[in-house]
Amino acid sequence: MKDILINGVKKAGEILKEDFYRPKTVSNKGVADLVTETDLKIEEFLKKYFYKQLPDYKFVGEETSLDLSFKEKCLIVDPIDGTTNFVHRFPFVGISVGVYENLNPVAATVFNPIMDELYYAEVGKGAFLNGSRIFVSTQSKIENSLLATGFPYGFVEKNKKDILAKLEKILSNSRGVRRAGAASLDLCYVARGVFDGYYEGGLKPWDVAAGVLIVSEAGGKISNMNGGNFSFEDEYIVASNKIIHNELIEVLCGI
Ligand code: IPD
Ligand code: CA
Ligand code: CA
Repeated sequence: MKDILINGVKKAGEILKEDFYRPKTVSNKGVADLVTETDLKIEEFLKKYFYKQLPDYKFVGEETSLDLSFKEKCLIVDPIDGTTNFVHRFPFVGISVGVYENLNPVAATVFNPIMDELYYAEVGKGAFLNGSRIFVSTQSKIENSLLATGFPYGFVEKNKKDILAKLEKILSNSRGVRRAGAASLDLCYVARGVFDGYYEGGLKPWDVAAGVLIVSEAGGKISNMNGGNFSFEDEYIVASNKIIHNELIEVLCGI
């Protein structure tokens, strides 16, 4: 499984890297929700590749899949996480693949070919960046934490007041907030101990399917905004180094 996943995202990464500095053909799926020919090219490549390599797994891709049931064995794929970054040549872009069985992640990879960062995790076997083990931070004080968040296309319009209220609380209770623009990599940066915590509302399964396992296998915690088990139906995801998790939720919810 590991070699199949890594070889697949590395081949897909060659497509992304080749197009990164080229002029792009951009379409709008929604308000500031972009898709490019490269998103479609990578998804098509990965669909064919995994059909050959993992024929027992259903392919669920952001750009072409209509059946979003995850009950059977499936690969949940975001061909380019951070398409806006890709279009504007901001190098925080990830190819994300989560391998799921019975609704649970069993393996995951996120590859940023521009910064040459390959994240991999398998349940019970740890999380890795370019082959070296990674672990969440040991930061115990939220006021000394570097946090991250995002503002999903469309979700912002409907929830602007709540999003700004959360941002105001976080800004007053941390060292700072980063909005880097690729949720899968935001989660990987929690796993490697760069971000001490991350939260975002309105994400889709392919944004987080791989990152949640990478955070957990790096010793971090993933929950919904109530601190309960996160599922794809939850409005918010919260990820952290586990130590600041409850305090992060208290700050976000104004408890
Ligand atoms: C987006 C990124 C962004 C998040 C958006 C996602 P995409 O993914 O993950 O960080 O805030 O909600 O849609 O659309 O570039 O694959
Ligand atoms: Ca995405
Ligand atoms: Ca995408």
